Amino acid sequence: MNILITGGTGFLGQALIRQLLARGDSVTVLSRHAETVVKRCGVAVKAVERLNELNAEEDFAVVINLAGAPIIDSFWTSPRKQLIRESRITLTEQLVDFMAQCSIKPRLLISGSAIGYYGDQGDSVLNEQSSMGAGFAAQLCHDWEQAARRAEPLGIRVCLLRTGLVIGGDGGFLQRLLLPFRMGLGGCLGNGRQWMSWISQDDWVAIVLAMIDQAQMHGVYNATAPNPVTNCEFTETLARRLNRPAWLPIPAVFLKYGLGERSELLLSSQRVLPERLLAQGFSFQHTQLNTVITLSLAG
Ligand SMILES: NC(=O)c1ccc[n+]([C@@H]2O[C@H](COP(=O)([O-])OP(=O)(O)OC[C@H]3O[C@@H](n4cnc5c(N)ncnc54)[C@H](OP(=O)(O)O)[C@@H]3O)[C@@H](O)[C@H]2O)c1
Repeated sequence: MNILITGGTGFLGQALIRQLLARGDSVTVLSRHAETVVKRCGVAVKAVERLNELNAEEDFAVVINLAGAPIIDSFWTSPRKQLIRESRITLTEQLVDFMAQCSIKPRLLISGSAIGYYGDQGDSVLNEQSSMGAGFAAQLCHDWEQAARRAEPLGIRVCLLRTGLVIGGDGGFLQRLLLPFRMGLGGCLGNGRQWMSWISQDDWVAIVLAMIDQAQMHGVYNATAPNPVTNCEFTETLARRLNRPAWLPIPAVFLKYGLGERSELLLSSQRVLPERLLAQGFSFQHTQLNTVITLSLAG
């Protein structure tokens, strides 16, 4: 199958491309830096830097849209917020415009989103029908999803991935936590009661492959494991696996002072269940956080 991917050079994109190539799919990556595509994704992958370099006659069966400027790395100044939004929403709009011009239309668009859509909803159990939350991340996810849905009137099947915190491989948020935790500086964030909905990188990739293979899948899916944990449970599990103490809670006020508005990403509570995936028979390989952290640390 011929597949076009944005954000293919990223943490999730690289893991996905390894599996697509292993299945015999052809992959083209749209990247700001074509030279990094070969380095990160291998010589079998074709790279383009602009959509207009693509041939509208080429038959891309599937388009997978993962690109976006990192959301936690820098203060959410107005220009940074604009970049975070444009790198997702404007790019998605351009991608749908390209799909509209293709002489053979792609059959499927799989487009990114995140559980940030739900904002901060305390202990409420959230499924795909739950209401949108408040805040910058929630609005970003909503608008990103709406941009992708513009492909539906073109007769293209659209799957939207509300991804949780992805654990596995050699990147993602677990890698960022290792240094402070190894130094014994890990601790619950705020009151530690906020829910963290995680997923293994292997399961995330398997969900995307299922979306490609199963024509009945469409619409929004929570890409999270069925057992979310509180921040304190997460902290204790990681500290135990690293054999380090994690006694020092970090008060919410410190996080708000140090990170500004971005602290919402660490303090918001999202107890998300993958209800639609479970209802449609998706079988998760990793359901226990402890196991996934152990495997990630061993890898
Ligand atoms: N990892 C997670 O836990 C997680 C959770 C929820 C949602 N998500 C979302 O899923 C998507 C993929 O996640 P990831 O962890 O693989 O992200 P990632 O490692 O940061 O990769 C994202 C890719 O987006 C492209 N990109 C970065 N800045 C850009 C900009 N200013 N304009 C256009 N493209 C830009 C880059 O590709 P090029 O350099 O090749 O252009 C990069 O490889 C992201 O949109 C992320 O927000 C991830």
